[in-house]
Amino acid sequence: MLSARNVVKHYGGVQALKGVDFDIYRGTVTTLFGENGAGKSTLMKILSGVEQPTDGQLILDGEPVRFASTVEAQHRGISIIHQELSLAPNMSVRDNIFMGRELRRAGGVDYAEEARQAAALMTELEEDIHPLTKVGDLRVGQQQIVEIARALSVDARILIMDEPTSALSATEVEVLFKVIRDLTARGVAIVYISHHLEEALEITDHAVVLRDGSMTAKAERADIDLAWIVRNMVGENFDLGSPPTGYEFGDTLLSVQSLTVPDDSNVDRAAVDHLSLDVRAGEVVCIYGLMGAGRTELLEALAGASQVSDGKVMLEGRDVTHMDIAQRIAAGLVLVPEDRQRDGLVQTMTVGRNLSLASIGAFVKNLFLSNSGERGLVDDSIRDVHVKTDGPGAMIGSLSGGNQQKVVIGKMVTTDPKVILLDEPSRGIDIGAKAEVFKLLAERAKQGLGVVYSTSEVNECLSIAHRIIVMGRGRIVAEFGPDVSKEQIMAASGESVAA
Ligand SMILES: Nc1ncnc2c1ncn2[C@@H]1O[C@H](COP(=O)(O)OP(=O)(O)OP(=O)(O)O)[C@@H](O)[C@H]1O
Ligand SMILES: [Mg+2]
Repeated sequence: MLSARNVVKHYGGVQALKGVDFDIYRGTVTTLFGENGAGKSTLMKILSGVEQPTDGQLILDGEPVRFASTVEAQHRGISIIHQELSLAPNMSVRDNIFMGRELRRAGGVDYAEEARQAAALMTELEEDIHPLTKVGDLRVGQQQIVEIARALSVDARILIMDEPTSALSATEVEVLFKVIRDLTARGVAIVYISHHLEEALEITDHAVVLRDGSMTAKAERADIDLAWIVRNMVGENFDLGSPPTGYEFGDTLLSVQSLTVPDDSNVDRAAVDHLSLDVRAGEVVCIYGLMGAGRTELLEALAGASQVSDGKVMLEGRDVTHMDIAQRIAAGLVLVPEDRQRDGLVQTMTVGRNLSLASIGAFVKNLFLSNSGERGLVDDSIRDVHVKTDGPGAMIGSLSGGNQQKVVIGKMVTTDPKVILLDEPSRGIDIGAKAEVFKLLAERAKQGLGVVYSTSEVNECLSIAHRIIVMGRGRIVAEFGPDVSKEQIMAASGESVAA
């Protein structure tokens, strides 16, 4: 249906695409794999009219085409779900879905019809969201559903999904896959991008791998497996690491005592329910749980980002329960948040400024900013987390999605915390970067950092954690050592949901 021929894209000095051929077929799912910065989003932006190619050609139904804008591409039946959420938070679900394409009737916009169609899309996606809810009041996963609904509402022949599931629960992903299968059965062509490789493999018909702006491999589903993807993405097989050893844990750094966080949407239960947990210096703790288990609520409460109704948080024996976020960062307790795009970065600042933001206090000498100190630190953290960038002066917005996330992680590590909390730290980053982030955390743990990270990918629990805690309904439902099996962890989290 749609082909790219020898497509080249330059962004200033960066060559994001170096002559790529790419084909999209009727009624099939083509998955596009590649490391952070490989050029996946760039290629998709060119196919959907967001960006123009520097060179090369697009061919739609056998004819050469140029899309000057997304509107033109939409008219030709091409719709895209962007990696970065592009919704207006202070507008309703309905208005976000129909923004720029309002349904008209005599006398103005047909709001009732828009609301009806928005509700129908929510039903199709099996999500209980009212069309008039303000998008900003939804959790990230629900916002992603709205983004998907908007793309579906266009009735596209070609639907591009750039990391559509990064914030979705397993059930929501299943529903999305059902919707994708319905669409392909009706002849719609899908392009699907995800760093969740196992999941993407489930929905793949054709797989294509990009590496450094060039296509390195393509194959049919029947001929490939996970190892094929990883090998073609990064050129070797990756292992996410193992729990750091060769040292004794130090004193208890973080002590959570009967912590309780109310659930805003449900007065009958608490999001975090009298939860207690100790973390010692050098210890790496993984928190596993399904969506709604309370992992994010727990980590946010520990970081001072939400109100607690009961219990205490102690850091090195000091009560920090009533400190705000900044005071806790100063005391050495920091959070890498779940929604890094929104909470973690200042989009209008450079990579360097974003990296040094959290620790800027350490570089203020006699009220003057020590530029050399700041620069040294920024260079260190760009190297530590392997950010692919032109340098500290590049704007954050020019980085690929995964690299933006690495900046947030790097930023928090540079504050030199006692305890670092990470909410789904590997979301949206490629397998090589995942391994790098875990390695960095393991190294810091060896030096005495306490690490607490949450994940919904069971393989990641089994990487560097000394202790695995399974949460369900705001409580700890199981606790394991590093020798536990995948099945045991999953069974424990499943039981808590059924209970
Ligand atoms: N607007 C821009 N200005 C400058 N450089 C850019 C811009 N957009 C992308 N790039 C660069 O182009 C390259 C490809 O980025 P792209 O976003 O396509 O990667 P990606 O494969 O989607 O990665 P990810 O998995 O992290 O989303 C990167 O080096 C990126 O920094
Ligand atoms: Mg991308």
